[in-house]
Amino acid sequence: MELKTWLAGAAMGAALLLAGGPAFAVTIGFSQVGDEGDWRPAFSKDMQEEAKKEGIDLKFADAQGKEENQLKAVRAFIAQKVDAIIVAPVVETGWAQVLEEAKKAGIPVFLADRDVDAAAKPQVVTRMAADFNLEGRLAGAWLAQASRGQCNIVELQGTVGSAPAIERKKGFEAIISQFPDMKIVKTQSGDFTTDGGKKVMEAFIKSTDNLKGICGVFAHNDNMQLGAIQAMKEAGLKPGKDVLMVSVDYVPAMKDALAAGDANASVELKSAIGKYIYPVVTQYLQDHKQLPPWVKIPSDLHTAAVPAN
Ligand code: AHR
Repeated sequence: MELKTWLAGAAMGAALLLAGGPAFAVTIGFSQVGDEGDWRPAFSKDMQEEAKKEGIDLKFADAQGKEENQLKAVRAFIAQKVDAIIVAPVVETGWAQVLEEAKKAGIPVFLADRDVDAAAKPQVVTRMAADFNLEGRLAGAWLAQASRGQCNIVELQGTVGSAPAIERKKGFEAIISQFPDMKIVKTQSGDFTTDGGKKVMEAFIKSTDNLKGICGVFAHNDNMQLGAIQAMKEAGLKPGKDVLMVSVDYVPAMKDALAAGDANASVELKSAIGKYIYPVVTQYLQDHKQLPPWVKIPSDLHTAAVPAN
């Protein structure tokens, strides 16, 4: 369900928002992935600030990119008898058992941002997140248009097994498969970090004789793209000019790169999720009414001018 449609129907949630938070004490445990790029700390900050505004006692656990830390955090939240748990899962798999434990303890679990696999889905009340597959399709469609359907692409993948890496790749490939002269010639994970993106791009530059024949870079997030831009500049290449650059997040540093002509397009991933998810959680704690499995946050494509060739 789209966020706009859901908001229109969620009258009680809106009432709670206007009232400035729930009229009863609420403790929520939030297990966050870590702080691998610029987008995630912005999301963490939003969740903390919105919790404060709503008068929610938020127990924030940073998993430092490790699922095992998330599993521990969720078990700690269960032991602390929090009212609800929100998880942004590092990877999709491995969640069924711990979420079942939360359910047995009577603690509802919500997802923000990333997803879990089908085995764990029945234990989740709802997920509030962007459509990562659509983000991949938007990036693919932009590159198809900008390259007139002819492009050898190198891809910087996000964390292996994470929902955004899986779905952005799928969505991107679904679009470029429509164009016989578009193909991914190199692909590797840069783990969503600037450093990871830089290292992978350095290797690609070496193995392709300075990106010979490469027309585009698709990075699953902006931070890897920013790392790739650094690597390309150090090799004497002109990202955004010699090679088309498209990625996801639209963080401030990418806005600067777009303005400077070092990048060409970025799909915006909105980090302001707190103001939507907290009213949903607090409302659910009162009425336990079934919610749509996924409330979709819209994604927008931002572009800079493509150099004429
Ligand atoms: O799950 C969303 C992705 O995670 C963002 O695109 C990325 O920057 C973050 O690491």
